[in-house]
Amino acid sequence: MVVFTDRPITRVEDLYGEGHRRAVEELKKAVEVRSFAAVVGPRRVGKTSVVKSFLFHFKYPYLYFDFSPYMGQTAVSFRSLVPAGVGFDEKQLSSEAQIYLAVVCLRVKRVRITGDVFEANLLSLLRELNERFRRFILVFDEAQVLAFLKGVNGRGLLQFVHNNFENIVVVLTGSMPGLLEKVISPADARVAGFARYVELIGIPRWNAEETAGFLEEGLRSAKIGFEQKDLLEVHEKLSGIPGFISYYGLLRVKGNSHSSSLKSAMDYAMDSGDTIFKPSPQSTNLPSTLDF
Ligand SMILES: Nc1ncnc2c1ncn2[C@@H]1O[C@H](COP(=O)(O)OP(=O)(O)OP(=O)(O)O)[C@@H](O)[C@H]1O
Ligand SMILES: [Mg+2]
Repeated sequence: MVVFTDRPITRVEDLYGEGHRRAVEELKKAVEVRSFAAVVGPRRVGKTSVVKSFLFHFKYPYLYFDFSPYMGQTAVSFRSLVPAGVGFDEKQLSSEAQIYLAVVCLRVKRVRITGDVFEANLLSLLRELNERFRRFILVFDEAQVLAFLKGVNGRGLLQFVHNNFENIVVVLTGSMPGLLEKVISPADARVAGFARYVELIGIPRWNAEETAGFLEEGLRSAKIGFEQKDLLEVHEKLSGIPGFISYYGLLRVKGNSHSSSLKSAMDYAMDSGDTIFKPSPQSTNLPSTLDF
């Protein structure tokens, strides 16, 4: 089903486009062979949607860390490592592990939690999760931020989990080359990079048929009139990026005209800071090739 929304998609059935669905399958394969995985692509292409649809569809137990609010910051407190999503029944854990989880979620009052205390509790929690589940997924959304954590060694943590907890699979999302340069294989790394273990899963933009198909279906069901040439214009101006195309659809459904919706979606794309949308001196047309 086509959904125009500015939130991530969470159901595989609602993920439009062959590339996105294939990415879910690739992620499933990577997880089953216990490969470290990185879901990569430009801003608003659908990275979070792919990961969330995957988790909910296959019902893997997980912890979800969302670093998106901290993007662009160069010093990030370890408190940003509080899970945004806890995807398992806490009552399945031993009473000790329930306490570790409470510390990691910063639910424990009257105890001063330093970076060291936090890291020790997180590792103890992961040790039990590794023993308790056949597969457990640890998601770091916008994982570039791991490189800027203060009080906790983000890269060391990933390395430790990967080397010691065989049932835990780490899934990162982020943009290329940011993720590669900052987390997976930074040039200044003292320990070997993760590059040789990481399964890179690229999220493609939609092609013109997919953009048109998505908009047609959504506009028809909302009974909004449109012309084919408008759909092609949306595809070209928004460079096939689902997040901006969905935003255009959302504005149309709210009653805005084609041209004002497209203008707002283009402004949004420019503000997102993605280099795809930086006008080049020669041309104002956006490139249509992938850039990860
Ligand atoms: N395959 C898809 N089918 C339908 N809608 C999609 C699809 N992929 C992304 N979207 C829409 O695009 C928007 C952005 O998706 P999402 O948040 O998953 O992208 P992202 O790459 O994680 O973006 P960000 O760079 O902001 O983290 C959401 O509103 C979502 O509804
Ligand atoms: Mg995201």
